Amino acid sequence: MLIEFIYTSHAKTPLSPEQLSTLKKSCIEYNTQHKITGMLLYNNMKFMQVLEGDKETILALFKKIKQDPRHHQVEALILNPIDERNFGQWAMGIADISNESIKPDFLSDPNIVNKALSKKLLLAFSHHLIEID
Ligand SMILES: Cc1cc2nc3c(=O)[nH]c(=O)nc-3n(C[C@H](O)[C@H](O)[C@H](O)COP(=O)(O)O)c2cc1C
Repeated sequence: MLIEFIYTSHAKTPLSPEQLSTLKKSCIEYNTQHKITGMLLYNNMKFMQVLEGDKETILALFKKIKQDPRHHQVEALILNPIDERNFGQWAMGIADISNESIKPDFLSDPNIVNKALSKKLLLAFSHHLIEID
């Protein structure tokens, strides 16, 4: 079953652009092999990630992600069956949005209100509308 899975977490220490880039590389390799797509936003030490793929595959990956020492306070928000992927072109898009002026394109799409729940959640997260403590 194709699902979208969304969680938030806190980085234990700030991640440098190099560390984010290393993380991205390992995500893309694994996710491509396992037909996983999605988006990871990093906003001042907070993460929100959307993972799309087969349910069992995503839950197996989430088990590993939860144990990753780079972050903690990992909180699952949503597990939703979907008909099609919203991030099909990204084995894992990673955007550091800590700097307000840098936003991924889809977050500046004026029609985002008509878009998928996952995109709305990422938009809300990028505007600090979702507080995680
Ligand atoms: C915020 C965050 C998001 C991650 N997302 C993914 C991901 O999408 N795909 C992936 O393979 N690893 C991801 N990882 C890395 C995994 O936690 C883990 O390091 C990786 O699966 C290798 O685990 P292993 O050494 O136990 O095999 C993420 C880590 C963090 C901190």
